[in-house]
Amino acid sequence: MLDRNSHNFSAGPGALPDTVLEQLSAEMLSVPELGVSLLGISHRSEWFESVVLEVEERLRNLLYLTEDWNVILMQGGSSLQFGMIPMNLLPAKGSADYLRTGYWSGRSIADPRLFGSINLAWDGEPWEFRRLPRTEELQLNEQAAYFHYVSNETVEGLQFQQIPGIDGVTRICDMSSDFLSRPIAIKNYDLIYAHAQKNLGPAGLTIVLIRDSLLERLQRPVPTMLDYRNHRDHQSIFNTPPTFAIYATLLVLRWLENTVGGLRTMEKCNKRKAMKVYGMVDESDGFYMGRAARDDRSLMNVCFNLEDKLLEPIFLQEATKQGFEGLKGHRSIGGMRASLYNAVSESACEDLCELMTNFRIKHRKGRVQKW
Ligand SMILES: Cc1ncc(COP(=O)(O)O)c(C=O)c1O
Repeated sequence: MLDRNSHNFSAGPGALPDTVLEQLSAEMLSVPELGVSLLGISHRSEWFESVVLEVEERLRNLLYLTEDWNVILMQGGSSLQFGMIPMNLLPAKGSADYLRTGYWSGRSIADPRLFGSINLAWDGEPWEFRRLPRTEELQLNEQAAYFHYVSNETVEGLQFQQIPGIDGVTRICDMSSDFLSRPIAIKNYDLIYAHAQKNLGPAGLTIVLIRDSLLERLQRPVPTMLDYRNHRDHQSIFNTPPTFAIYATLLVLRWLENTVGGLRTMEKCNKRKAMKVYGMVDESDGFYMGRAARDDRSLMNVCFNLEDKLLEPIFLQEATKQGFEGLKGHRSIGGMRASLYNAVSESACEDLCELMTNFRIKHRKGRVQKW
């Protein structure tokens, strides 16, 4: 039986590095420099203030953020950003461009309609969200208040390899499921948000990176908790923040920089992991079938089906029995999904490939072999 934590392919909350889990588990009882439990430290303490500052500094270093970027630590998940963005940035008579490329971008287009209007610049529904648009297919508006897209569709396993949108129009991106999995060409963006529970830490924290220029564009009076400026002015400690999630994220950021060696190395590793698993799908002679178009495949979420649908629950049972976690596809589309977030190791991916090979050998009887 495999170690379940090291073989956690969950789509989120997802796997965290073993060393981080070990440190958190010890500090749950006592943080060495303070002698008290991590869960009982005031958010107004010097210790916690320094944690927030270090999170910000590490994000600035990893992403090469210039001075005009603000790092805001928030709650409410990425779903709150679906509403906060238009509430703050969409004028009542304005229109914003949105791409509907899958389940999560579909969820992002409801709230903006409460505040202004939207232009759906592309809708992937006719293709069952199996592919992403090419630049020439986008019906973009040069006068849009902003352009919003999701860089990685977690449910369908689609990931943009190029940055869509028109330069000169405010570009906003939901990077919840691929944030810090690869370098970001930061100069192309104005606002980026990502919740922690994929590549960064536990649920409860959402990171918002926002340029000064957007903070000056507030469109209407908004409640203080939903005003980005308010969180910026209080260095992300306006009310009680999710202290545990923020500290855990700090440990993951240290791991990413000190153990992994930064975003370029992380990206290379993530590519190798994805190549292994997609390779297994592609070489299976149709036994496994990838969901996404090849050019748009996500390095983070590998979604696949079995040609024989009746075998899918058996595959999942077998995986669970052997110690693999979280391989079931999203409830909206079923099938299988292996999420290869940063903390999932290459050797865990090799073990997954071995499971897939053994399962195929065992169940391929009756299939015609093509040699
Ligand atoms: C790309 C993406 N955006 C938004 C969300 C919603 O996030 P939350 O549950 O934090 O509101 C998810 C959830 O998994 C997601 O994958």
